[in-house]
Amino acid sequence: MRGVSRWFGIVAAIWAVAMTVGVLAQTAAPAGPAAVPPEAKKMKAAFASSPAAIESGKVLFAKYCRFCHGNTGAGDSTMAPKTMKPSNLTDAEWTRGSSEGEIFWVIQNGAPPKYEMKGLKGKITDADTWNIVHYVRSLGGAGK
Ligand code: HEC
Repeated sequence: MRGVSRWFGIVAAIWAVAMTVGVLAQTAAPAGPAAVPPEAKKMKAAFASSPAAIESGKVLFAKYCRFCHGNTGAGDSTMAPKTMKPSNLTDAEWTRGSSEGEIFWVIQNGAPPKYEMKGLKGKITDADTWNIVHYVRSLGGAGK
């Protein structure tokens, strides 16, 4: 009997942790504003695009973005959660703006208004974020 109650205690403890995590996830504050703030558009990249920056950005894209946006950024990944429709980053449609600063903002803060795409703020450096921005803009859709 003692063995059973010990197991019950362990299961109850795991359940309590799982519930707490679940509740915290649900009550987390909204990730940010309903749209990319206008200041983002004025933000200039910390360094200009270059073949080296684009190459670094490509490696980072494979690590952090490919899962949802697909190998080529066309938004056609079969791995993306079925509930979301990641944007095509190679076409001319940019709901959140296609300037360097706006793309930087989305990578750091996530994609408003739903924030199904979470931001990477605190997980990658600003320099790496700019590398990804340069890579994404090299895909052609964002223009110059
Ligand atoms: C969990 C899946 C997921 C990951 C990972 C992800 N995204 Fe997204 N991304 C989305 C979704 C979903 C949207 C918004 C689609 C919509 O609401 O129209 C989006 C939107 C965007 C937009 C805005 C496009 C526009 O037209 O306004 C950019 C830019 C973008 N993502 C770039 C990236 C980059 C760069 C990375 C990697 C650093 C990345 N995303 C990682 C799912 C993801």
